[in-house]
Amino acid sequence: MSIISNCTTATIKAAATSLIDGNLVAFPTETVYGLGAVATNEDAIARIYEVKGRPVGHPLIVHISSIKHLDKWARNVPEYAIKLARNFWPGPMTLILPRTSLAKDFITGGQDNVGVRVPSHTVALELLREFESQGGLGIAAPSANRFGKVSPTSAQAASDELSEYLSPNDLILDGGPCVVGVESSIINCTQDIPTILRPGAVTTELIYEKLGIVVKQSNKDGTELKIKASGLLESHYAPAAKVFISIDTQPGDGFIAYSSIPTPTGTLRLASPNNNDEYANQFYQALRLADSKQLQRVVVVPPTNEGVGIAINDRLNKAAFY
Ligand code: TXA
Ligand code: MG
Repeated sequence: MSIISNCTTATIKAAATSLIDGNLVAFPTETVYGLGAVATNEDAIARIYEVKGRPVGHPLIVHISSIKHLDKWARNVPEYAIKLARNFWPGPMTLILPRTSLAKDFITGGQDNVGVRVPSHTVALELLREFESQGGLGIAAPSANRFGKVSPTSAQAASDELSEYLSPNDLILDGGPCVVGVESSIINCTQDIPTILRPGAVTTELIYEKLGIVVKQSNKDGTELKIKASGLLESHYAPAAKVFISIDTQPGDGFIAYSSIPTPTGTLRLASPNNNDEYANQFYQALRLADSKQLQRVVVVPPTNEGVGIAINDRLNKAAFY
């Protein structure tokens, strides 16, 4: 496995060719790093599951470069979903839609729905455009971490997670740190009314403000929808250190809180965000730092449930579940 730190037109082109040849390419998106493979290549997809240690049957998100290509993967796209896509793509939002025959069971986990996203990171978009110009139709990419672990928000973090499982021909494209820092909002668009399955930076409030569309919050485990989403399992996004949602610390704990909250004596400050956007941007990196310092415990003072704070609290609750 090599890390490509100079993402030029030439190296991105070579990465697209490598994907088409059946290799894996981890790449940056604005949310987190993804582990990419050709979405129509069953063998390459099987390697994603192997490298991640992910149980089979968990569906993967298909990434495309533009809404123009949506009808290759999805059919019966409701009017509201088209509005969402036009307004929030490229961006941190995944739409779950009825699949076309291109989206095979090995992508959808046997469901009749497919998840599709157009990411906004320039390296991701360039990779997708180059891949499509070489005949590719979509790049399947889960977050580039081992199953149940913290999503990587830098190329180094992706490498720390997966390098020992990747093959010599696989690549990691380094596009710098991810701006958003938590995974995309997942919106179920297979029913009359859209439902949020996983909160992210595109919030129900933002959607209502911009488009006047009401999006329902799904119940906690998504069972009412009979939709499989591994991020919906409890105990996910977890570091090795135990995570406590609290204000009570012990000496030697890691500590994550807004910058306005002073560091308790004897603790190690892991992040000091000034607002919820910064909180999302720093959160996963801070959990990783706790593990690299081999801390036993991390105490987290949670953000407010506003904006991307809802997504952070969702991940925090899963990281802190035993
Ligand atoms: O921000 C993101 O979404 C990142 C970047 C790389 O795009 N990707 C990501 O993928 O978070 P992953 O596989 O780690 O999480 C995707 C979630 C999983 O919980 C999966 O089960 C769910 O999306 N999902 C994917 N396709 C689905 C489908 N057809 N129906 C229901 N859930 C789906
Ligand atoms: Mg993931």
